[in-house]
Amino acid sequence: MCLVYYLSASKLYLKMNKSVSGFSKLKKSEKIEWLLQHYLFNSKSAKKIITQYWNSNEKLQQLHDEFIENTITNYYLPLGIAPNFLINNKLYAIPMAIEESSVVAAASKAAKFWLERGGFKTEVISTTKIGQVHFMYHGDFKTLNTFFNTIKPKLISDAKPITKNMDKRGGGILNIELRNKTDSIDGYYQLHASFETLDAMGANFINSCLEQFAKTFKTEAEKQLDSTIEIVMSILSNYVPDCLVKAEVNCKIEDLADLNINAKEFAHKFIQAVNIAKVEPYRAVTHNKGIMNGIDAVVLATGNDFRAVEAGIHAYASKNGTYTSLTHAEIKNDRFKFWIEIPLALGTVGGLTKLHPLVNLSSELLGKPNSKELMQIVAVAGLAQNFAALRSLTTTGIQEGHMKMHLMNILNQFNASENEKKQIITHFKTNTVTHSAVVDKLEKLRN
Ligand code: MEV
Repeated sequence: MCLVYYLSASKLYLKMNKSVSGFSKLKKSEKIEWLLQHYLFNSKSAKKIITQYWNSNEKLQQLHDEFIENTITNYYLPLGIAPNFLINNKLYAIPMAIEESSVVAAASKAAKFWLERGGFKTEVISTTKIGQVHFMYHGDFKTLNTFFNTIKPKLISDAKPITKNMDKRGGGILNIELRNKTDSIDGYYQLHASFETLDAMGANFINSCLEQFAKTFKTEAEKQLDSTIEIVMSILSNYVPDCLVKAEVNCKIEDLADLNINAKEFAHKFIQAVNIAKVEPYRAVTHNKGIMNGIDAVVLATGNDFRAVEAGIHAYASKNGTYTSLTHAEIKNDRFKFWIEIPLALGTVGGLTKLHPLVNLSSELLGKPNSKELMQIVAVAGLAQNFAALRSLTTTGIQEGHMKMHLMNILNQFNASENEKKQIITHFKTNTVTHSAVVDKLEKLRN
């Protein structure tokens, strides 16, 4: 009894001691001091790690500090370049921000392979985005429907101050529908709105419109309806199945031949691999993860919201009720064709696009693409990544290339000197890389 009391009292003490209010109001240095005291045992090395990632350019550092709340330092990711991407007959060097060692190398290899076989062909299929006002209503549906149809022009006109600039550029609200969802939840309805947001990803634009729709809808309902309307929430959807892009490669089967591959055998095995990902969710998830290696890296480098892209794409991968491959492959009339079709809501204006110097640089590198062009580049990065992964998986296996790229990480983990790195890299050009083989070799060198 006494022990239980003691334990829970000490837990409470710990909890109190480590909680804080007003943290966001502290200066950066005070936040760090607080963390050092309460979580990092006043460690000098922790303080050094935090501060050594600060940028000496104070303005640049302040810019990064102000992207989010409670910034204490910067978190670096490498920004790599995958050159030689021929997309619709135009060459691109694609910027990729990613930590996984083999991704940029794999993208570059796939780009080179298809550069010699006509490159990638892409097409934007549609660009419509969606937002919803979710609300509850327990009156008669017919009355609600009539009310909605009367009020619809006012919903749009009350949002004019928000939409006027977008309207001028040719975008804006496309439509608003009333959707009856009472089959799923008693009294649940939606205003389901569609938008064209041009070069903006559109989250702020859509959410502002939706909140205005909700305001007008509620105010008018209070005047015109007997039953009340309860607005639950107004928010865009990151599921954008009508904001679609397609990327494709194709060539004669015999042109797939390469130093190490027999063309026919390779094409056949490749298609089997895609077909397995189509029917087997355990494989489909990994297959699509490889695609996201390429997509996320470009989305991140261009300052877009990779969480939104991830959520939307995975939802699309399960649109028919089973999680399946995002890519497709076939052989028709002796031609090999491999393609991807994915939803992508991307922006080339707004958000971080003008603020983050590296995002700006990425945009320059890509020739300042508009959002439709960026959709095509990103889809290509996903397709190329999948091609590279399936090519390795169905021929040499993934570990050979992966471990070669991972070698440097292992060497750095053991603080290898430049000379040690040089000797070990030469050794593993002709030997299989495994963690233990690298450690063995390093120990032998050091002894
Ligand atoms: C690793 O990051 C990605 C792969 O697992 C993708 C795949 O299996 O297709 C290699």
